[in-house]
Amino acid sequence: MVYLREQLDGVRVLPVLQVESEEQAVGLCRALQAGGLKGVEITLRTSAALAAISAVKKTLPDLMVAAGTVNSTRDMESVAAAGVDLAVSPGLTRLLSDCARELGMPFLPGVSTASEILGGLELGYTTFKFFPAETSGGVAALSAFGAPFQGVSFCPTGGINQENLADYLKLPNVICAGGSWMVPKDLLADRDWQAIESRARQLVEFLGQLPARES
Ligand code: 3PG
Repeated sequence: MVYLREQLDGVRVLPVLQVESEEQAVGLCRALQAGGLKGVEITLRTSAALAAISAVKKTLPDLMVAAGTVNSTRDMESVAAAGVDLAVSPGLTRLLSDCARELGMPFLPGVSTASEILGGLELGYTTFKFFPAETSGGVAALSAFGAPFQGVSFCPTGGINQENLADYLKLPNVICAGGSWMVPKDLLADRDWQAIESRARQLVEFLGQLPARES
């Protein structure tokens, strides 16, 4: 099992990106990195995603690049070939898990229930995406998972925004929070890299001001 907390080390927020071209992806990721963010998740929801992942990895080698929406073994093989640092899926199946393991691909599988967490623990995982976070019980559900699932960490995603972010990040079992709110569609469409960089910087400052996590 590749220990994926290494990939998420220092990544407190993970922007979930949908990109239309390599050039757009590189501009966007450069701006996010310049603003102080350590990692991004590029989703496989556009035809440009795989080429964009390769281009970003080549141009910005220090940025942790995760591939999101890895829903099949074929997706897993493609993102491994594209050189991604981490594969992220909204769910978890044995096929996906076996494929990630064979490829040596660090994998963040998604869960939203206690039984799914138990299934993941059986396969050797202790870090999960919690998806869709807000509609699966949000902060209250993650807090309740803390008692029976000690030593398990989560990256909640789905419905997270600037207003509820701090409530998630203060939970001791949350290592990072993901979401699309960090990159507004209009700024991306306008390729306003300066505004995106400045939003990222403000977010990093906000993270720096958060009180220490509950224990
Ligand atoms: C994901 O793929 O992780 C989610 O679609 C992101 O959810 P959000 O758009 O609500 O942040």
